[in-house]
Amino acid sequence: IQPPKTVEAKKVTEEERIVLKRAGKIDPKNIEEYIALDGYRGLARALEMKPADVVEEIKASGLRGRGGAGFPTGLKWEFTMKVDAPEKFVICNADEGEPGTFKDRLIMEGDPHSVIEGMLIAGYAVGASKGYVYIRGEYFESVDNLRNAIAQAYEYGLLGKNILGSGFDFDLTVRLGAGAYVCGEETALIESIEGKSGRPRLKPPYPPVKGLFQKPTVVNNVETFASVPTIVMKGANWFKGIGTPSSPGTKVFSLCGNIVRRGIVEAPMGTTVADLIFKYGGGIENGKKLKMVQTGGAAGTFIRADEINVPLDFDSFKNHGASLGSGVILAIDDSHCAVDVALNLMEFFAHESCGKCTPCREGTRLIVNILKEFSKGRGTREMLDNLYNIAYTMQNSAFCGLGQSVPVPLTSMLDRFRDEFEAHVGVDACPVGVCKFDKKK
Ligand code: NAI
Repeated sequence: IQPPKTVEAKKVTEEERIVLKRAGKIDPKNIEEYIALDGYRGLARALEMKPADVVEEIKASGLRGRGGAGFPTGLKWEFTMKVDAPEKFVICNADEGEPGTFKDRLIMEGDPHSVIEGMLIAGYAVGASKGYVYIRGEYFESVDNLRNAIAQAYEYGLLGKNILGSGFDFDLTVRLGAGAYVCGEETALIESIEGKSGRPRLKPPYPPVKGLFQKPTVVNNVETFASVPTIVMKGANWFKGIGTPSSPGTKVFSLCGNIVRRGIVEAPMGTTVADLIFKYGGGIENGKKLKMVQTGGAAGTFIRADEINVPLDFDSFKNHGASLGSGVILAIDDSHCAVDVALNLMEFFAHESCGKCTPCREGTRLIVNILKEFSKGRGTREMLDNLYNIAYTMQNSAFCGLGQSVPVPLTSMLDRFRDEFEAHVGVDACPVGVCKFDKKK
């Protein structure tokens, strides 16, 4: 890993907050409070523009998808806009399932109208008149607040027919997910809305061309939609003034693990992991030492404590080996064992694999079995090589993002903490004192 090379991120002032500017300040159940703080002004401005100009503005802003992959939002909208079809859809992916990520929940709980407004702008821009919010069923307060906000928006003529007298019609419905991680994968999510079991489709065709009910569909994350109204209101150039050149704007980070102040923080793209943990998060709890950080979510990379001076944006993985993903910062202190952390995470993936494809279904189980051997002091060096082989196969042949991304945390952990795995070979006790050894089992 090279020292950080990207430009220094510009600071975001409270006035420059985009996604969390109202959360905690307004009553999320009261549309009037949203409207009083510039709510629906982005929509009003968009409706005065031509749809193609709205798409251009989002493209020019450089906004990239906040769900984790960072695909350019304006491009996605342009693809959808350009397809000539009688019916199109907008879907908000609110099936936040990445372990450690809770930013979308808090955005929906604290400022549900910002998501609705972003979806309305997207619908107008691409020519869609129907939207769905697919939301994690366990997010009770988010569901309540969104349903209430949607009802109020209908009451105020901001949803339904002839919105703000513009001739634009848009209806919005909430659909609940049932707790499957794979349903956050956009095509599995689409299948689920269609009433089928949530299993991914082959891509391409991508949803902008063939999505819900085979119709052109924009699928964006909660935070992406919540960013849109302010961009339309303040303009692409303003947005580009925050963050880094290739990842403009702010990011809502979820700080979790052994951090003193766990929670979410909106910071400019390009903020370092060190700042997120020590400046915003207050450091490591109980006076312990930081051992490693997983950045980006379950599918993100593990970095060592001496690597945390990396700025996070969508190119950090390429530049510094640390992924931004959905913005999770999972800090792990030195009382944890690398084998134990890896096993815990891989058990999650094995549980959540939908079973559709062999590399993911079998690969995740094989990885868990091997890691269990290590956690019992029965690992071998050949097994370590096997983990890399399985990871390679999964990365190159798993059907969807779930299986393809499992190797990222696994190999980043093995690369950086190989000595700890080797220290588990043929010993009688976990060197860190964490794994529960019982050689007879
Ligand atoms: P992807 O790279 O396949 O696609 C990202 C987006 O870009 C999709 O909406 C896709 O349709 C669009 N896209 C890509 N190429 C396109 C093209 N040529 N034409 C039109 N559209 C195109 O990534 P994927 O599998 O959708 O997402 C992976 C990410 O999801 C990971 O980075 C991970 O961090 C994140 N993730 C987030 C979770 C959360 O709870 N927020 C849960 C699990 C994963």
